[in-house]
Amino acid sequence: MHDLYSLMYVSQASDLQAHDLEILEKECVARNARLNITGILLHGGHLFVQVLEGHKDDVQHVFAKIEKDRRHTMVIVLTEGPIGERRFAEWSMAFYALDHIGCTAVAKDIGWPEWPQTVGRATAQAQPPAILAAMQNLLAA
Ligand SMILES: Cc1cc2nc3c(=O)[nH]c(=O)nc-3n(C[C@H](O)[C@H](O)[C@H](O)COP(=O)(O)O)c2cc1C
Repeated sequence: MHDLYSLMYVSQASDLQAHDLEILEKECVARNARLNITGILLHGGHLFVQVLEGHKDDVQHVFAKIEKDRRHTMVIVLTEGPIGERRFAEWSMAFYALDHIGCTAVAKDIGWPEWPQTVGRATAQAQPPAILAAMQNLLAA
């Protein structure tokens, strides 16, 4: 009950087509629903940014699988730790495939000069609270 946990990471997406992203989204939603994991996954440019939340063991178990997934590389954790309550409680995995305009809008919302092109840049520029707020704004839009 009291071990809610959240983890945010960024990664370098492999060359995925719209169809691949649809399959990934369905997979995430179905599996997370079973484990009561919630969160959000953004795909934009060459990056994924994901937040997973749920019981600590479950989050870490799923993340261990995600890290090994060949659909992305260079998986870097931006922040993780206990949380008081879920931010994405309504979503087994809210999924956004951002086009160029979407990336620019989210980057602006986060306060980034532009949507990062590499994991290195994303990590260097990352302010997790600002990313979380921008993610919540996306859901509210
Ligand atoms: C960017 C990305 C995000 C993913 N997010 C999730 C997720 O939220 N939940 C999940 O169960 N699997 C997620 N996966 C899929 C896992 O990596 C893995 O394929 C899935 O858990 C099945 O693993 P298994 O076949 O070893 O059971 C994600 C994969 C990628 C590439």
